[in-house]
Amino acid sequence: MTTQLSSLEAQLTALQTEANEAIAQVTSLDDLEQLRIKYLGKKGSLSQVLGSMGKLSAAERPRIGALANDVKEALQNNLEHKKAALQAAQIEAQLAAETLDVTMPGVFRVQGRSHPLSSTIEKALDIFVGLGYTIAQGPEMETDYYNFEALNTPADHPARDMQDTFYLPDGNLLRTHTSSVQIRYMETNEPPIRIAAPGRVYRRDTVDATHSAVFHQIEILAVDEGLTFTDLKGTIKEFLAAMFGEIPIRFRPSFFPFTEPSAEVDVQWKGRWLEVLGCGMVDPNVLKAVGYDPEIYTGFAAGFGVERFAMVLHQIDDIRRLYSSDLRFLRQF
Ligand code: DAH
Repeated sequence: MTTQLSSLEAQLTALQTEANEAIAQVTSLDDLEQLRIKYLGKKGSLSQVLGSMGKLSAAERPRIGALANDVKEALQNNLEHKKAALQAAQIEAQLAAETLDVTMPGVFRVQGRSHPLSSTIEKALDIFVGLGYTIAQGPEMETDYYNFEALNTPADHPARDMQDTFYLPDGNLLRTHTSSVQIRYMETNEPPIRIAAPGRVYRRDTVDATHSAVFHQIEILAVDEGLTFTDLKGTIKEFLAAMFGEIPIRFRPSFFPFTEPSAEVDVQWKGRWLEVLGCGMVDPNVLKAVGYDPEIYTGFAAGFGVERFAMVLHQIDDIRRLYSSDLRFLRQF
């Protein structure tokens, strides 16, 4: 055996020992990869040792070749095992870090609830839907035609003074009542009609405990052959009983340009009569305006203020409370 040969053998054995020790020490996959490059890479230690094989005799080369292969294979195995172990440990650590502690206290989230105006609208609409009505809607910005003209209220009509209107610079207006939806609906539908139309309306009222410049109404309209005032009365009675329970109500003769005859309805509340809605038989002129034949069809309509209803239902003394965002007030409902 030449000294060259034994020296190479010693180098290979030393390389293996050194590499095994280094692999044992490593704690990260990155460092492990660095070691693989250092020992087994193209320019790594093993290649360098083998580089000096040229100095060996042809007979000696296979021996070193075989030993080098054994060392290489052993190191590759060792690297593989270490890699698998490090990966397993990494997953283990990740799982431990992401463990859910189901015994920890949860995050408290405040539960929202329906605003009294919304729940009042919902309750009223539920009742009408139960009576066979469908829900209709119309725009809040209206033309003079839908808000007044088609509702039998021409420009010089004294009834226009009943409602102080917000006019817009372009000649349109903010609707003063949901009655405008009657016209829009009838224009695009044929009798029989049963609709309930909730929505926001606007008036130039001075704000106080019972007035607001913006408030809500629900309009109802029924058009069919042979509808009479008795049908109107029965519907209103049924509705108010479902809304407030069996409390005393009374019909009072009244006037609206779009109904004839017209009535206002009061309910007894806290020992006095409180007006809650206007209603009447649809004026033949209104039916004519949408192209219905008043000789064939009759109809009844009603409009009521949602705020008034909510105040009665919940004993609210000031309408302004309904528009303030005071949570101490709102949490009561
Ligand atoms: N539009 C009326 C108002 O705002 C309320 C009203 C009265 C509506 C009689 C109707 C009705 O449909 O028939 O004061």
